[in-house]
Amino acid sequence: MNSKFVSVATAAIMTVAAGAANAEPQAEVLHWWTSGGEAKSVAVLQQEFDGRGGTWTDMPVAGGGGDAAMTALRARVLAGNAPTAVQLKGPAIQEWYEEGVLADISSVAKANGWADVLPPSIANHMKCEDTWCAAPVNVHRIDWIWANADVLSRNGIKMPTTWAEFNAAAAKLQAAGVTPLAHGGQAWQDATVFEAVALGIGGADFFQKAFVDLDPATLKSDTMVKVFDQMRTMRGFVDSNFSGRDWNLATAMVMNGEAAFQIMGDWAKGEFLAAGKKPGVDFLCASTPGEGFLYNVDSFAMFSVDGKDKKDGQLLLAELIVGKNFQKVFNLNKGSIPARVDVALDEFDSCAHTSAKDMADSNKGGSLLPSYAHGMALRGAQAGAITDVVTAHFNSDMSSADAVKMLADAVANSL
Ligand code: BGC
Repeated sequence: MNSKFVSVATAAIMTVAAGAANAEPQAEVLHWWTSGGEAKSVAVLQQEFDGRGGTWTDMPVAGGGGDAAMTALRARVLAGNAPTAVQLKGPAIQEWYEEGVLADISSVAKANGWADVLPPSIANHMKCEDTWCAAPVNVHRIDWIWANADVLSRNGIKMPTTWAEFNAAAAKLQAAGVTPLAHGGQAWQDATVFEAVALGIGGADFFQKAFVDLDPATLKSDTMVKVFDQMRTMRGFVDSNFSGRDWNLATAMVMNGEAAFQIMGDWAKGEFLAAGKKPGVDFLCASTPGEGFLYNVDSFAMFSVDGKDKKDGQLLLAELIVGKNFQKVFNLNKGSIPARVDVALDEFDSCAHTSAKDMADSNKGGSLLPSYAHGMALRGAQAGAITDVVTAHFNSDMSSADAVKMLADAVANSL
């Protein structure tokens, strides 16, 4: 063998070896954070990951609520090519674990003491049997009502504290030529409004029995009839172009004074903030009428992948996600509050303080409940069955009596 060849070959082998030893952490991250406020928030994670030597490949799938992202995920997993990290939450985490496709991130959880800094109610969602299989980012609240401060004051209206007050305010606004309720006619947005109304009208026990326990009698109860009645009333408060509208465009209608209110989780606040709007000045936040707190915890699960660079990427991402600084900066942008209990809220606004206080109070009072509309309470089939009925009712002249019958049947057939 000539010596030139040997040295070239040796150099090549050394380069490969060095490359493997220094392989940078890689992550292909599937998420649905594509609105202004959402993109600003996820950029914080990307920057931290890059700052630690990682290479981030972004896989955003637009579509509020994540239905399109979950369809994309299924296709990738079926093709045997799962992304390394996926925005995934609630029982869907355990559903994917049961498919045998999730990576175990217990080593990071243990090394970073997650059990000591996460409330048990959140930590439980992140566990699959005796392993940690997801990392939580935040706590979003669903049962919020957002309002344009100027529109309310010009029309002599205060934030409603009962559904009757809401209906009266909406009628007054409508008479004044303002769209009372900014809404996007997409199934998950209908479900978002519906669950806030259900909690408000029925209370925490009713919500628990209906959307967590799937109790047939509660699903077809007189109280559920009243919930659908209120949905019918609210259908009359949306503008004629609501069908198919994205949630952030509905938020923009409130921002620019075209509409007065939006009922939406606090990612809407992320949108107001990204547009430079100030809480208490430009926009107002209040919990929707009634007691309780509907929580929605965003989290990331890691899928089983080959290659040290990808595995390192997963562990690094998991560590950063539950990191104290990330939880602060991300949530300041996202509109949510940190999942960690030890992050000071000094820099957070009044809406975030309300959220943290109400969460603690409702936890004590037994009215802290998982959002069904955002995949925290039920498995996909049952949540989908409920949402189909909610949407069918909202977009037709179906009576409330027919809707509750259909609801109980749809849930029974989905089990
Ligand atoms: C997610 C939020 C997201 C919202 C709108 C919710 O299900 O939890 O993080 O901003 O959908 O896409």
